[in-house]
Amino acid sequence: MSTILVTGGAGYIGSHTCIELIRAGYDPVIFDNFSNSKPAVLARLNRITKRNIPFVAGDIRVKEQLEAVFDAYSIDAVINFAGLKAVGESVQKPLEYYDNNVNGARVLLSVMKERKCFNFVFSSSATVYGEPDSVPLTENSPVKRANSPYGQTKVDIEFMAEELQKAVPDFSMILLRYFNPVGAHDSGLIGEDPRGIPNNLMPYLTQVAVGKLPHLNIFGNDYPTPDGTCIRDYIHVVDLARGHVAALEHCMNRSGVHIYNLGTGIGYSVLDMVKAFSKAIGRELPYRFAPRRPGDVVQCYADPSKARNELGWSAQKNLDEMAADSYNWQKNNPNGYDN
Ligand code: NAD
Ligand code: UD1
Repeated sequence: MSTILVTGGAGYIGSHTCIELIRAGYDPVIFDNFSNSKPAVLARLNRITKRNIPFVAGDIRVKEQLEAVFDAYSIDAVINFAGLKAVGESVQKPLEYYDNNVNGARVLLSVMKERKCFNFVFSSSATVYGEPDSVPLTENSPVKRANSPYGQTKVDIEFMAEELQKAVPDFSMILLRYFNPVGAHDSGLIGEDPRGIPNNLMPYLTQVAVGKLPHLNIFGNDYPTPDGTCIRDYIHVVDLARGHVAALEHCMNRSGVHIYNLGTGIGYSVLDMVKAFSKAIGRELPYRFAPRRPGDVVQCYADPSKARNELGWSAQKNLDEMAADSYNWQKNNPNGYDN
């Protein structure tokens, strides 16, 4: 069975992906520096999977730490979730973002090349499309200069992977462009645990629901959309995790650059999300309209047909499940992993 190095595997998407990898018969090895996650997730994962998932503490920027993992395990593929992801923070600390994300991916790819491990899966983002000229977005929609250092690190890493693949054609570069991951594992044992006040919509909604925050601020209600609020393609994190398994199954050892949108293809507005969430909690969730957030795109949703046709993968979980599972996680863990 194939062994998969999951860098950033203690984080939100990485932890859910480890479960799906095991279900599909792969052996994940988690590598993480806990810069945005907690060690407690490991015991929860072992409880869910009834396994003892190997874990190595380390930073993808440190070559020797990665080499030690390749010495200890026979790694067939790497899924790189390790990255900093707060858009606002990236504007304040651009050098930290380029160092952690771009330099980290560079070091990781250099060790993979040295060790002849040629399967690289990368957590890219719909942010590489910038403000779309038209929706839905296909993989051929233009990649644009991003409007934040965070977004630009995704563009830069995609380009670096493509250039390396030209130089070392054995590489299979699997670039997965996520839309908006939400939800949690249905056990309620793992989920998204942001530090401080959440920047993203779903964790903000869950914290309002459990009374940690008084109300949601909806950033703008005068956009050119049916209800005036922005539209996004929210995808359940378990569906997203399964997308990684499908991509590995199809693209592993198939040299080339493989790019897939991972989204549902359905655009929901912020008010749609509030409605779905209110239904999940059985009462009206308090919200107020607030000014637009700088840098927000009006609407962004995927054309997911390439992944469906080539990988045989499509998202299965609907908005009600996304809201219910997000709430279930927050309700059971009001302080995240700090319970
Ligand atoms: P997360 O912060 O929960 O997980 C990232 C993990 O990587 C954390 O456990 C963190 O400790 C670890 N990490 C960070 N830098 C590291 C380093 N240098 N060395 C080792 N470990 C390191 O984030 P997530 O939501 O699970 O996102 C995973 C990836 O997907 C990120 O690259 C993110 O940019 C990308 N992505 C996320 C979203 C989203 O909305 N969550 C959307 C598109 C793309
Ligand atoms: C944001 C990032 C994007 C990143 C993605 C995943 C920005 C400009 N974009 O995307 O680069 O890839 O997160 O991490 O930050 N909203 C509110 N109130 C809130 C929070 C959000 O109204 O308190 C609205 C936003 O204006 C947006 C929608 O909800 O219309 C979704 O927001 P969010 O969850 O932050 O995701 P994105 O903006 O898509």
